[in-house]
Amino acid sequence: MTAAALVLITRPDGTQPDRQMKHILEALEQRRQGARLGGGQGRIDAQHKRGKLTARERIGLLLDKGSFEEFDMFVQHRCADFGMDKGEKIPGDGVVTGWGTVNGRTVFVFAKDFTVFGGSLSETHAQKITKIQDMALKNRAPIIGLFDAGGARIQEGVAALGGYGEVFQRNVLASGVIPQISVIMGPCAGGDVYSPAMTDFIFMVRDTSYMFVTGPDVVKTVTNETVTAEELGGASVHTTKSSIADRAYDNDVEALLQMRRLIDFLPASNTDEVPEWPSFQDSDSADMSLDTLVPDNPNKPYDIKELILKTVDEGDFFEIQEAHARNIVTGFGRIEGRTVGVVANQPMVLAGVLDADASRKAARFVRFCDCFNIPIVTFVDVPGFLPGTAQEYGGLIKHGAKLLFAYAEATVPKVTVITRKAFGGAYDVMASKHLRGDINLAWPTAQIAVMGAKGAVEIIFRQDIANPAKIAERTKEYEDRFLSPFVAAERGYIDEVIMPHSTRRRVARVLAMLRNKELENPWKKHDNIPL
Ligand code: HXC
Repeated sequence: MTAAALVLITRPDGTQPDRQMKHILEALEQRRQGARLGGGQGRIDAQHKRGKLTARERIGLLLDKGSFEEFDMFVQHRCADFGMDKGEKIPGDGVVTGWGTVNGRTVFVFAKDFTVFGGSLSETHAQKITKIQDMALKNRAPIIGLFDAGGARIQEGVAALGGYGEVFQRNVLASGVIPQISVIMGPCAGGDVYSPAMTDFIFMVRDTSYMFVTGPDVVKTVTNETVTAEELGGASVHTTKSSIADRAYDNDVEALLQMRRLIDFLPASNTDEVPEWPSFQDSDSADMSLDTLVPDNPNKPYDIKELILKTVDEGDFFEIQEAHARNIVTGFGRIEGRTVGVVANQPMVLAGVLDADASRKAARFVRFCDCFNIPIVTFVDVPGFLPGTAQEYGGLIKHGAKLLFAYAEATVPKVTVITRKAFGGAYDVMASKHLRGDINLAWPTAQIAVMGAKGAVEIIFRQDIANPAKIAERTKEYEDRFLSPFVAAERGYIDEVIMPHSTRRRVARVLAMLRNKELENPWKKHDNIPL
C-alpha cells in the first residue's frame, strides 16, 4: 500500500472508513498514481535528463501550491489503427488539464505530456483541451498551454486533424476575450505550433524547446536542406529572427515563474478591469535625473528604458519581444498599482526609427492592450520611418500602416509623452492627438516637425546649397521655429509641456483622470487591418 493511500484511508476527522470503502479508496488512489506516471518512469527520467520537467511538475510550479484541480485524468485514446488497440493505453492520453490559481486568480491550464506518445494529439486528447478552452471562455479566465509535443498523433490520421481544427476554432473565438498564453517547453511541431501561433503570447525555453511546422528530418527529405532543430526553430531564431516567440528563458522553472509574473499584469478577460496590486512607490515624487536624460546633442542616443523604469511602479517592467525590433520597446508595467502597456521608441537602436519589424511588433502589442482594457503609455523619440529599398520591398507601407491602424482604432486611455524627436509620419503614428491620444505631453526638449533641420533646409532652400553660410542661417531659423514642442502646443496638439522630472506624477494623474473614459468605435463586424 502506498503512503498516499495510507493518508487517505484515515479521514481528516481521524475516523477510519469501513473495510469495503477502504478498498475502493485505495483502488482510486492506485489508479491516480498510475495516471500520474504518464508514459512511465523511464520516459520521465529521459525527460529530466534533457533538462525538462514533466507536465505535472510544470503545472505545480505555475499554479499556487495545492490549487490545481485536474480533469479527465482517466481519458484514454480510442484508436485501433497501426496496432494502437493492442498497445498500451495510457490514462490521460498525453495531456494534463485543469484549473487552479495564480496569486489567488483563476487560470485554466493544459500541459502536454511528452512521455505519452510524444505529447501528440489524438481525438480524445483534443477533447480534453477543448473542454478546458470552453471552460476558460465561459468563466472568463486566462488559459495557459504548456507545449512539449509532436503535433497530430500520426496513427489517428484525420481524427487528430479534426481535433486540432476544434482547438484552432476555439483559439480564434477566445482571441480578444480571454488572454491565451503558450509556453513552448520541448520540441513542438504541426498543430502544436499552429495553436500557439493563434494565442496572445508565446514563450520558449532556451536549448530545450523548438518550434517548426515540420522537423529537420522532413526538411531534409523535402528540400534537401540539412539543418539542426536549433537552427530551424530554436528560441534564438524565434525571439530574434522570426519574432514568433515573445521571450525566451533559460529553463522550465524560470519560464513558469515568469508566467506567474505575467498573469499578475493581465485582466482575466475583456470585460474585466486591469488587476490592481499594492504600490509601494509614491507617484508624487520627482525624479530629477530625468531632466538630464536627453543629451544636448540631438544625435546622441540615450536609453529610453531608463525613463520607462523611472515611470512604472518599483521599476517593474515585463518586456515583450525584448530581443526583436529593439528600436521599439513594448511591455507591461504598473502605475499606482494598475497595469499599463508601454510603447517607446528606443534611441539606442537605429536611432529609434520605425521600420517594418518595429511597426508590426508595436501594432500587435497595442491591439492586445486595446482588447483587454489596458491603458497605453507611449514615449516618443522617433526620427521617422526607415527609408530604402530593403524596407520598401519588405512592405514598410503596409507594416507601418498596421501601427497607425492599431493606435487609431484603440479606445483605451492613451497617454503620450514626446521626449525628443517626433518627425514626419511617425509623429502622427505614435499615439498623436490626431489619433485620439487623450493627453499628449511633451518635454521641453521635444522637436515636433516634418523632418530634421538639415534635411528640411536642403529641400526647401536647394538653391542655396552651394552657400554654407546661408544654409547655416536657414538651418538655425528652422531649428528655432520648428524644433521645439511649442508650434504643436500652440495648436493644442500638445496638451502641456512638462518638466521631465515630473513625468511619473503627470502620467499617474492623467491615468487616474481617464479611469472612467468611455469611447466607442462605430459598429462593425470587424475591421480590416492591413495584414
Ligand atoms: C505519434 C509521436 C509523434 C506523433 C512523436 N511521437 N511525435 N507519436 N504521433 N506526431 C512519439 C515517438 O514515436 C516517440 O515514441 C516519442 O513520441 C518521442 O519522440 P522522439 O521522436 O523519440 O523524440 P525527439 O527525438 O525529441 O523528437 C521529437 C519530435 C519528433 C521533433 C517532435 O518526434 C517528430 O518530428 N515527430 C513528428 C512531428 C510531426 O511531423 N507531427 C505531425 C504534424 S502534422 P516512443 O514510443 O519511441 O517513446 C500536424 C497537423 C496539424 O500536427 C495541422 C496544422 C495546421
